[in-house]
Amino acid sequence: MRRSCLLVSLLLISFILIGCFGKTNKVVSPVNRQQLIVGLSQIGNESSWRICNTMSIKDAADRAGIQLIVDEAQQKQENQLKAIRSFIVYQVDAILLVPIVETGWENVLSEARQARIPVIIVDRKIKDLDKSLYEGFIGEDCVEEGRKAARFLLKKFENVHRKINIIELSGTENSSAAIERSFGFRDEIGSDSRFRIIYSESGDFLKSRGKEIISQIISYNNGQFKIGTKNIDVIFSHNDSMTLGAIEALDSNGIKSGKDVVVVSFDGEQQAINALKDGKINCVVECNPFMGDKLMSLVKTVANRNTIPDVTYVDETVFTEYDDLLAIEARGY
Ligand code: AHR
Repeated sequence: MRRSCLLVSLLLISFILIGCFGKTNKVVSPVNRQQLIVGLSQIGNESSWRICNTMSIKDAADRAGIQLIVDEAQQKQENQLKAIRSFIVYQVDAILLVPIVETGWENVLSEARQARIPVIIVDRKIKDLDKSLYEGFIGEDCVEEGRKAARFLLKKFENVHRKINIIELSGTENSSAAIERSFGFRDEIGSDSRFRIIYSESGDFLKSRGKEIISQIISYNNGQFKIGTKNIDVIFSHNDSMTLGAIEALDSNGIKSGKDVVVVSFDGEQQAINALKDGKINCVVECNPFMGDKLMSLVKTVANRNTIPDVTYVDETVFTEYDDLLAIEARGY
């Protein structure tokens, strides 16, 4: 009797989950499970980078014979919390969490730990969290990315002996990608008193916001690219989507991106590399979205109750106007 109750409950849970995730994935009942089943809570699809990151994880799961349930949270932490709780109910073998922001995960991750489901943090980091709540992190080193952007500017302005005014288009507030890029950049450039960040605003990693912020700055200043009386020398933009929006705003106001203003960006998507080749961007710091295969190998390890490194970084490079731009291979995103 108790056994049949359990079966009925499991079937019910399966139906609910098919309802939740049915659009993107086929779900099998846990009772018939013949392969690892893993839940991915992804942020959404705010950028080409993000879309490629999701594809990389899906493709790698296919290759590894792992069934992946993907939930895209449409840029809302509350949706991510719901998805993780559904994964716990479904008793997945592991949870992959791409945290949109650094904080607010403690309760849900405690619930996962109670259910003995291992969690891997992917792409973005979580702040000061008890390490027993997750197995490890895989993704990019955004502090180092910020430093690379600063090093480019130190070279670019080597022979300039005046104040250099920077505006920052930062990513999603309270996201580790934005916090770390800002930190690495400021830390590296801070000792050179020529450089000053005269304005910073969050564009949420969105192209539309990048365009909007730059358009507003120009229109407040009657067509000039200034903050108050200060000319803007550099746009330091936390991702290519915002950068491409910013370039559209500059173009439509007759300001030459890459020449009248130096532009530094992050990600390395094809459109940004094309803009680098066209002289509209001066430096693109790569953020590598292809982490699927490494991630699946970590998944297998944690599913077997073995430990993984606390941090696994992906390899990343930097593309600048000083490089042989013809040698850059197709980016794939
Ligand atoms: O967390 C990585 C960042 O998120 C990428 O730079 C950006 O394009 C994405 O939205």
